[in-house]
Amino acid sequence: TSEPLKVAVTGAAGQIGYSLLFRLASGALAADRPIELRLLEIEPALKALEGVVMELDDCAFPNLAGVEIGADAEKIFDGVNLALLVGARPRGPGMERGDLLSANGAIFTAQGKALNAVAADDVRIGVTGNPANTNALIAMSNAPDIPQERFSALTRLDHNRAISQLAAKTGAKVTDIKKMTIWGNHSATQYPDLFHAEVNGQNAAEAVGDQAWLENDFIPTVAKRGAAIIDARGSSSAASAASATIDAARDWLFGSPADDWVSMAVVSKGEYGVPEGLISSFPVTTSGGDWSIVEGLEIDDFSRARIDASTAELADERQAVTELGLI
Ligand code: NAI
Repeated sequence: TSEPLKVAVTGAAGQIGYSLLFRLASGALAADRPIELRLLEIEPALKALEGVVMELDDCAFPNLAGVEIGADAEKIFDGVNLALLVGARPRGPGMERGDLLSANGAIFTAQGKALNAVAADDVRIGVTGNPANTNALIAMSNAPDIPQERFSALTRLDHNRAISQLAAKTGAKVTDIKKMTIWGNHSATQYPDLFHAEVNGQNAAEAVGDQAWLENDFIPTVAKRGAAIIDARGSSSAASAASATIDAARDWLFGSPADDWVSMAVVSKGEYGVPEGLISSFPVTTSGGDWSIVEGLEIDDFSRARIDASTAELADERQAVTELGLI
């Protein structure tokens, strides 16, 4: 079909937006299919967003069918096929976790309701803004008419980081690495799993053959990569987050590669002992716009403890937003 794909991006004037919009418009998501961008910002950021739209115009992208901007979610989300929820309230100085959860709760409650009211019937919703898993849970809980499977939170950046670290360690190409999995929360408790990954068809943990590296180097490097980038760059990862947001959406809409899987945080039905209803990262395959969790992987004690620790954190976050009346 040559109908434009209508893609909403929230927080479009932010750092991630500045990379994401140009890649969406240039075909990284939908190749030659025309794309229409619907950009949501808060009122004070609309002027800056107008400047970004001037730059989008100036790129003369052949497949950019239109751009609309605004601060009213019900107008911007009208008829969208894909919503990339990037905008969120960052943690300010002295802000407690509860303050952060309630500030974001207000945003994702309103956006969930607006999507429920006006999005296209086939809408898919990807949440990048942090705390991504719990923000996705809040949006999902406030959109009762949208199937729960249409919501996901981004752990693809962690997934890509894990592939890159493993490639560097083994000397393999990133394309030689398959079946990487991030389990749990997009946070420092996440569990990047090498026991089911493969390097040129060989089990990754065996290919590495260094449990100390896996435990003391690989896992913390992947889990704390965001902080390392802030340290080096002076601001948080943006281009890589935008790239992962597109990777995740592209695979979701158009399918994951046949001999591989990807990591997505999606609603649990209790798979792998993850409490039902949490939005937790799993290995998934995607086809025809739907995902399914890869079944039947053996989980040893090492992996079990790490998956449990991360999903316990997600359960705590759910408890906190339940007490705040957000879900
Ligand atoms: P940023 O602060 O540069 O931009 C955020 C934008 O969101 C701002 O322009 C702000 O005005 C806007 N915004 C705030 N409330 C809004 C609302 N209610 N509606 C629409 N827009 C709103 O932040 P940046 O660097 O672009 O990051 C965005 C989010 O992505 C952050 O929460 C960050 O922590 C998260 N992130 C997530 C990653 C992941 O892997 N899941 C990786 C990197 C960042």
